[in-house]
Amino acid sequence: MDSADLPPSDITEAVQHTLEELGIHDTPRLQELFSQLANQLQKDMAQLAETGAGEPEKLEALRVRWLGRKQGVIRSINDNWLRSASPELKREIGQLLNALREEAERQILVVKRAEGIPMTPAPVTVTPAPVTARWSIPEPTVFVTGALDITLPGTRRAVGVRHILRRVMDEITEIFFSLGYSVEEGPDIESVYYNFEALNIPEDHPARDDQDTFYIDSRTVLRTHTSSVQIRTMEKLQPPLRIIVPGKAYRRDTPDATHSPMFHQVEGLAVDTHITFADLKGTLDYFLKAFFGPEVRTRFRPSFFPFTEPSAEVDISCLFCGARGCRICKQSGWIELMGCGMVDPALYPHVHYEASRYSGFAFGMGVERLAMLKYGVQDIQLFFQGDVRFLRQFR
Ligand code: DAH
Repeated sequence: MDSADLPPSDITEAVQHTLEELGIHDTPRLQELFSQLANQLQKDMAQLAETGAGEPEKLEALRVRWLGRKQGVIRSINDNWLRSASPELKREIGQLLNALREEAERQILVVKRAEGIPMTPAPVTVTPAPVTARWSIPEPTVFVTGALDITLPGTRRAVGVRHILRRVMDEITEIFFSLGYSVEEGPDIESVYYNFEALNIPEDHPARDDQDTFYIDSRTVLRTHTSSVQIRTMEKLQPPLRIIVPGKAYRRDTPDATHSPMFHQVEGLAVDTHITFADLKGTLDYFLKAFFGPEVRTRFRPSFFPFTEPSAEVDISCLFCGARGCRICKQSGWIELMGCGMVDPALYPHVHYEASRYSGFAFGMGVERLAMLKYGVQDIQLFFQGDVRFLRQFR
């Protein structure tokens, strides 16, 4: 029997025979057969629309004719065509059969929805998310068939958290806001002038070795500290001035537990008439007690920075042993935290401030270091690896 000879209304008859019996051995004729079946499905649907779409029994009869588990067209194709087909045709039949089944399911569902006919719960097809990355967001569940069960629990979306470094920077900023400071920002890609020269670090100064960095060209660097914004701000604003500068800084450091080529700093600067070292000490003591807790004690040790004179290193009493001495404070009872000093008057001519009239102080701290001490993080690399198991601990 030739499929092309079948009267169209009998096409569903053909599924009761094997392909062998139908004399079908190649893909083109197979496709033709399936397109006739698709046409028949359309005709059945059209007829239903004309004669009884609102009658659930008629729709059910149509469903049984096409999708019925025992004698439905789809089932028969599976039993009579697919099973006995040659290996070459099997794949093709499988694909065409799937397409036909999906089309029949879809069409029936459309009528059911349109007519408000209650749907018998059919199995829900879930498309699994492709496993692309360890933390890939799962694809939403796709309901291909079946009713929507509104009593099922909804899809919970994980609520993100601020990155711990952002949070620590916000904590620092809040404390300085309460002291009347405002926030300034500057570019990460900085000129050698703002990063070094105007801060009293000339070309051959050994301080440049400590701050070896990434040169874009001989006059442009990735800033080695946020101190560069001191000069930019003083150029822009006249005293009185109280600013902090949170931001990224870069150095050519090999990554290890305490070093990263990119890290964060918060710089501070206050310039006014009559500012003294006592103001600097009082400000930083207040800040550190607010940040770490009132029991913390502070200590100022003489030090050197090219842009401050005098300069100091600020230590806090060890948070881990109550200053009795432990491994973390190297038995000293103190932990070194940040640099500071009185703004070196050598900077003022660069920004056209009257050096005889104004004085000021400056300080700079590493955000990662503060975060590691406050939250007990042992390895700076954890901040940048994006592992949510680490990050979500800081809710
Ligand atoms: N810029 C210094 C650094 O990155 C930190 C610093 C020290 C900033 C002393 C200051 C300061 O403003 O006064 O190591």
